[in-house]
Order: sequence, then structure tokens, then C-alpha cells
Amino acid sequence: MAEVILDRVTTASGTPNIAFIKYWGKRDYTGLNMPNNSSISMTLDETLSTKTSVVFSDKLKRDELYINGNEEAIVGDKIPEKSVYLKRILDQMRGLAKVKQNALIVSENNFPSSAGIASSASGAATLIVALSKALDLNKSPKDMSILARQISGSACRSLFGGIVKWNKGTEEDGSDSYSEQVFDDTYWPELIDIIAIVDPSKKKVSSSIGHAATVKTSVLYKARPAFAENGVKEIEKAIREKDLDLLSKTIMKDSNNMHATMLDTWPPIIYLTDASRDIIYGIHELNETEGECVAAYTFDAGPNAHIITLEKHREKVMDMLSDMVGVRRTIESHLGKGPRILKGNVSLINEKTLAPKITSTLS
Ligand code: PMV
Repeated sequence: MAEVILDRVTTASGTPNIAFIKYWGKRDYTGLNMPNNSSISMTLDETLSTKTSVVFSDKLKRDELYINGNEEAIVGDKIPEKSVYLKRILDQMRGLAKVKQNALIVSENNFPSSAGIASSASGAATLIVALSKALDLNKSPKDMSILARQISGSACRSLFGGIVKWNKGTEEDGSDSYSEQVFDDTYWPELIDIIAIVDPSKKKVSSSIGHAATVKTSVLYKARPAFAENGVKEIEKAIREKDLDLLSKTIMKDSNNMHATMLDTWPPIIYLTDASRDIIYGIHELNETEGECVAAYTFDAGPNAHIITLEKHREKVMDMLSDMVGVRRTIESHLGKGPRILKGNVSLINEKTLAPKITSTLS
């Protein structure tokens, strides 16, 4: 039986992940977020991190959610899709713990949400870790990945540190669609992700709409699941052998393949901009000069580039980026350890008043 202590705040932190082989396209539209192919990613370190505090209390009249200082709808008529899924998972976890009290959830990113970096993965993963601890559910990271997946698919990979694989699974209920760590964060310390921000604005087509539209209308997409599944095996091999050339080629080909299916969607979805294309050409030129692939670009549902390389090639990549007018700023991250429960005076909730503490100075 769970030992939930009401009115006591639990705080967790977690980080985003960047997929080397991407998840694009679901095999269900009931909110279970079951993918058509497995994917594999690098969990980032705490250079970019989310902190989330939760508390359950009789004093709360309704569930409340604050993200970066703003209250977000969690119940109501016109709720953003992610809040619907969040409510379902919150109710499910409350049910397991036999808790009826409302929850206050306060979450903040240490990076500006306007940076154009997907924060939903670290947000959802961190929330599940905080809820699981607060409700004393003793969930394994694997089970937590299944829960996080249902809030935001790619979030399930942020439950672990290092290199993480999300098995697509085949069960109708999604019970075998979970993530697992393939290599820990110490396996390849030289590996870095240089994020080149070219456009900080919000994406034009949400990923939820994009997933569905591509599966429905793209002819090219039919070849994607098998291609991606093979890509996951190549990435595992490349990392096991620390083969940067193979790793880079496989990462770039997968990003290009996913964006090709997006362009082939009707009406087309185009996330890449001229600045993204400049980076693509820049990386190919660099690799050509080096005589092998020493860096890879990869793009999620947006124009900002993640450049995967090793420490020893960092300067060359930075030189290339510094010549580009479209690159506004860069952020660097190594392999991270995954989410954790925070101790000490770190809470984002005032335990006496049950009000969110405003600590964020970010916009
Ligand atoms: O997790 P979602 O539904 O936001 O989908 C995002 C998928 C990509 O970021 C484009 C790729 C990935 O695997 O992270």
C-alpha cells in the first residue's frame, strides 16, 4: 500500500533527449502514442534541464499546472491535447495510489522556452518521476517510460541517461512499447550535441498533427518504418564500436528521411529553413574536407540543428557555425545521467501556502 504524505512537496529534475533515429508516425490515435518504428536517442546533460515539484493536498480545490510561471489548463473544454493526456495519466497514477486529493504541479526549464528546443520530453519525463515518488508508487524506469510515453511519445526516452532505445512494441495496450538504456552516460564521454538555434519561434505544425498527417498521406512514409528499424541497429553498432563515421552517416540519413516524408505529406510540412539548409551543406563540406564523417546534423520537428560530434572536432564545427549569419546561438551538451529526485531546499512550491514560487527569470 502506498504511503502518500499529503502536503509534502516532491521535486524531480530531468533533461531532453535528441533522437539519432526518429519517431515519426503512430500506430494508434487513442493517446497511447505507440510508434510505427523503434527509435534511439542521446539523453542530454543538465545544461538543459527541467525541474518539477508536485504536491497532493485536501487544500487544493482543483488540479493546477504551472509551466515556466504560467498557469496551463489541465481540465476544461478547450484543453490542449497534451493536458488531456496528462489528466488521464494523473488520474491513473492517483488511482493506483488510492489518492483522491488534487495536485499542484509546478515546472520550470532552465532554458528559455522560446529557444525552440523541444521541452515537452524533459517536462513529461520529469513529471512522471516526481508523481511516482510523491505517490510512493515505486515504479521502475521502464514502467515510468510507458507512462511518460502517453503524455509525449519522445518523453519515454528521457527516463534513462546515456543512449536510450524505445522499442516500438506490438501489443495493443502498449505494454511492450517502452524505453531501455543501451549504453550509460560514461560510455562515450567525448560525444557532444552542439545545438545551433536558428529560429526560436514556436513550430508551425504541432508534432501531433504532423505524425497523423504523414502516416495518412505520404507515399514515401510506407518505406520509413523498416528503414528506421534498420537504422536503430546501425546506431547501436556504431556506438558500440565508437565508429563516428558510421554514426554520423546513419544519423544524417535518418533525419533526411524523416524530413522527406514530411515534405511528401499533403499539404506538405516543412520545418527546415534556409539556415537549416546552410548547416546541412556546411556539415557535408566539413566531412568532405576531413575525408570521413566527423559530425552529423539532425533536426526534429523544427529548424534548429543538433550537431552530433566528438570533443576533438568541436572547434571545426564551431568555426563553421560562426561564419553563418542564420545561427543565433549555440548550446552544448554531453551525455546526461537521466532524471533524479532532488533533495534539500529546491522546491518550486511554498509548502505552507501551497503557492508556486516564482523563480524563473526566463521568457
Ligand atoms: O514526442 P512528440 O509527439 O513531440 O514527437 C516528436 C518526434 C520527433 O522529435 C520529431 C522525433 C523524436 O523521435 O524525438
